[in-house]
Amino acid sequence: MEANQPSMATPNSELFGNPYPWYAQMRRESPVWYDANQQVWMVFCYEDVKRIFSDWQIFSSKIPHPPEQTDLTQSLNYTDPPKHQSLRSLVAKVFTARRIEELAPRITQITHELIDQVQGQERIDFMHDLAIPLPIIVIAEILGIPIADREDFKRWSDGIVVYDSTAITAMADYFRHLLEQRRQHPGKDLISDLLAAHEAAETLTAQELVDFCMILLIAGNETTTNLLGNAVLCFKEHPEAFERLKREPDLVPLAVEEVLRYRSSVQGIERFTKVDVQVGEQTIPAGQMVIVWMGSANRDETKFDRPDEFIVDRDPNPHLAFGNGIHFCLGAPLARLEGKIVLSAVLERLSNLRIDPNATLEFIPSTGVHGVKSLPVLL
Ligand code: HEM
Repeated sequence: MEANQPSMATPNSELFGNPYPWYAQMRRESPVWYDANQQVWMVFCYEDVKRIFSDWQIFSSKIPHPPEQTDLTQSLNYTDPPKHQSLRSLVAKVFTARRIEELAPRITQITHELIDQVQGQERIDFMHDLAIPLPIIVIAEILGIPIADREDFKRWSDGIVVYDSTAITAMADYFRHLLEQRRQHPGKDLISDLLAAHEAAETLTAQELVDFCMILLIAGNETTTNLLGNAVLCFKEHPEAFERLKREPDLVPLAVEEVLRYRSSVQGIERFTKVDVQVGEQTIPAGQMVIVWMGSANRDETKFDRPDEFIVDRDPNPHLAFGNGIHFCLGAPLARLEGKIVLSAVLERLSNLRIDPNATLEFIPSTGVHGVKSLPVLL
């Protein structure tokens, strides 16, 4: 294997849309690989990826940040136990399954309102008109954030995924201000509940509160947006799956899982080794960055039958698109619910949807996040 393959840090535009042949080659030839250019280790096979997620004692989530960065360093996903446990149990009190289930009618309503706005048009941008606004509106309502600020969120979120420090500070300042307002005037939103739980238990620092709000907004938006857009990409490649879903809409929840496996919104996640550790045939020294490629694990032929086929009723489907172990995605029930509601509405109301054959699809310039920037579709 040549040592010039791309990593999350040096994206190669050809790979954004179709990293799968590269993953397959790496699983065959260098399943645990040191990228000397980037000085990161990369792990490609299902069992190794799963083990790294579970082994938090060795593979830390405390990724080194630039010394000048303080915001967004204390969020759940960047902490290890015992801090992680105390943060997660506090959050679990307010981000409950019941709270999510209760959102179903409202998410359905928002979805139909967004579709109403494009009704009658022949060509829409599926990302701009539906996949981007829906998760932002939903999470903004959960957090109790004025909807008028949603353009700012989108801009900051886009900036943050490409490590723009100005965007991090702008969003953090916004939440510092909002938390102060809610402390003085509590509402019925998740931020007010979080503040109340915090005051009862006093477990969160001011920075942790800010970082928690930020991670909810960031982790929940682009990922869910791309789940929705990637579903349309999967149906383009596999029109028979879309036809079958129209006939058997009960399969929608399984279809959502297969989209998550086949075109995972998050392709890779970083960890940091605390000690020397053997993975496969390699020994990774302490103090190294490791990228675990879930996008590759989810196509691993030793785990999935016919991994490169989109099988709309695949069951079981033990994909790792939401991670695994103690950091397993907190928002998975919400993402699944949004996926199910939007896909059902598309089948019902946009059933002739197809990607504009004249459109050139441009993928987001990151190998970690997988999805298209815009998606012109004909109705
Ligand atoms: C399709 C949509 C989504 C995907 C693919 C996804 C993926 C992931 C993955 C892979 C992780 C594990 C990170 C790690 O191990 O370091 C994670 C964690 C997390 N996700 Fe999601 N996510 C999605 C939607 C959401 C939503 C809607 C929310 C909240 C509104 C959310 C909030 C979080 C949080 C707070 C964590 C950190 C949990 C922890 O460290 O304990 N995610 N997500």
